Amino acid sequence: MIMSPESRQLLTVGRAPRQPGVTDGAEPIRRIHIGILRCFCLSLPRRIAALALVALIGIPNARAQNLAQTPPMGWNSWNYFGHKVDDKVIRQTADLLVATGMKDAGYIYVNIDDTWEGTRDANGLLHTNSKFPDMKSLADYVHSRGLKIGIYSSPGSRTCGGFEGSLGHEEQDAQLFASWGIDYLKYDLCSFDTDVMRKQAPNDKAEQMRLMRAAYARMGNALRATGRPMVYSLCQYGSDAVWEWAPSVGANLWRTTGDSAPTWDRIHLLGFDQAGLEQYSGPGHWNDPDILEVGNGDLTLEENRLHFSLWAILAAPLLAGNDLSNMHPEIRAILTNRDVIAIDQDPLGKQGTRAYTEGEMEVWTRPLASGALAVALFNTGDDRLPTHPFHLNLGKLGLHGTQTGKDLWTGKTISLSEGQPIELRSHDVLLVRLDSPK
Ligand code: GLA
Repeated sequence: MIMSPESRQLLTVGRAPRQPGVTDGAEPIRRIHIGILRCFCLSLPRRIAALALVALIGIPNARAQNLAQTPPMGWNSWNYFGHKVDDKVIRQTADLLVATGMKDAGYIYVNIDDTWEGTRDANGLLHTNSKFPDMKSLADYVHSRGLKIGIYSSPGSRTCGGFEGSLGHEEQDAQLFASWGIDYLKYDLCSFDTDVMRKQAPNDKAEQMRLMRAAYARMGNALRATGRPMVYSLCQYGSDAVWEWAPSVGANLWRTTGDSAPTWDRIHLLGFDQAGLEQYSGPGHWNDPDILEVGNGDLTLEENRLHFSLWAILAAPLLAGNDLSNMHPEIRAILTNRDVIAIDQDPLGKQGTRAYTEGEMEVWTRPLASGALAVALFNTGDDRLPTHPFHLNLGKLGLHGTQTGKDLWTGKTISLSEGQPIELRSHDVLLVRLDSPK
């Protein structure tokens, strides 16, 4: 599903502020604990009512908050393999994550996307199709490599690829995933829209959205009830301002966009369209502008570098989406650049945003732990000199005087001064870490 910036804007109009204590990452569990202690000072009926409330609303947040304290990192099968993913690809990818050093750089989740599903038996138990003869043994293999494994389903009767979805079998499927040893679920809206939302509430958009939220809450609860920690990833393309309510259904991340594609236009649209969503992201709950396309299609080296840098500035999940068995050294170097990964994984967990644009130059910043700052300059123009010439305005970044930092793509020390002319190749990026911005 493709979403234009205009339609995204329509969806985001009227964003309500988040309710503190309901959707925040670290705070709620502390409040729950204090609440439980206070509870014993209450009368019995009140005590029962308070504990019931904790059971109802507190636990999904508690479950969600221990996971994904930094944006999830790993690999997903969809962007490169699509329907061709199978047991062999997953085992080989797990081996390659280790062999290429990607695991050591932080890529931990090996996520099987759509097309693994077979049919249900008379008891409703879902079986894999012939591409995945034994999911439990596959999960064991992935775990034996020191990695974690993810899977995919839909709240509808059919997945986007037309395979069996979880509608009416949510608890059973969650238990099945847990019994296999699954660590991560991507839950993709797909046919739930036509099967349920449009059928049950044909002319009532608000009711359709309520049904959708309830479906995501149901799976969130089902995952929690298994007792197995599983990262919960919502995929409904950013509709109904998902960033406002996703954490309350136990989500650790949620797609904010339609599908990515390995083209400059698509990466440009998805990435730069994220400005304004930064307030919704944080430890345990992340905006997800989709799986990486680094190394896919005809993206140039500059475009791959820019894509990876932008996702890092956005505190986006870093799920590689390429074929690791055929990865050029330059692509491996991009995906394993530790300095850039450290920006993405910064423990403060604050998503960056646009500081200003000038012509086709985009200037973004991201606040980092210990008062550090990431500054990214993106040349989105087709020419080497997008504006003639571009002069950096440090004042617009809240900085005063010459700054010294590290250029994260050359590894060298760099100075940035007021009015400094900066020249970048078309679609290239300058990404700088300032440990002591002033
Ligand atoms: C949707 C999702 C994709 C992928 C496919 C699988 O299009 O947005 O990320 O999961 O379904 O069918």
